[in-house]
Amino acid sequence: MRRTTAEEAAATLLAANKVVIMPGYGLAVAQAQHKVRELYDSLTKRGVDMKFGIHPVAGRMPGHMNVLLAEADIPYDKLLSMDEINGDFPQTDVALIIGANDVTNPAARSDTSSPIYGMPILDVDKARTVMVIKRSMAAGFAGIENPLYYLDRTLMLFGDAKGVVGNIVRELSGGGHS
Ligand code: TAP
Repeated sequence: MRRTTAEEAAATLLAANKVVIMPGYGLAVAQAQHKVRELYDSLTKRGVDMKFGIHPVAGRMPGHMNVLLAEADIPYDKLLSMDEINGDFPQTDVALIIGANDVTNPAARSDTSSPIYGMPILDVDKARTVMVIKRSMAAGFAGIENPLYYLDRTLMLFGDAKGVVGNIVRELSGGGHS
């Protein structure tokens, strides 16, 4: 498992051409949507192509993520459904997962013994770099391990989603940590 810092995350995102953000339940808990909007603005301004990949059951109610991102005025045409975005991951430089877990778990595709086997997931593991923001290695709603976190291409950024995204935004604006 590889950890990263807000500073390294900011540099990796800035070097990317295409970034897809996957929001999940943890983004809602942290109320990180406005910081995510700032991240979106900051990277878009610097020429990074930014999109959002929305899983139909991300969060805890239908449309949960769409409502949160709309509240932060993220342009609706940047929100792509799982089926729309899944073909893009091999050409995606960074898949940035913010407080999502089960909806990105590749065990659903390959592990016949997994309780979520057969559930369609966001194919984030096909991106060049995977970055995951969550507080710990704790499981999500389904209560199962996520092998995504142990891939060579995955970087873990531990902390509350609002605080961590805020730190990345600060790094991007040259301000450093508080
Ligand atoms: P989850 O699999 O529940 O994962 C959410 C992750 O967010 C957790 O692993 C948690 O890890 C992290 N988290 C919690 N608070 C955080 C915070 N303040 N800052 C950063 N991260 C935080 O969520 P998902 O990927 O959105 O998947 C949804 C799950 O809910 C699915 O299993 C789905 O079937 C189920 N479900 C969905 C619905 C609907 S309709 N959407 C209804 C019922 C159930 P840490 O604890 O390590 O931070």
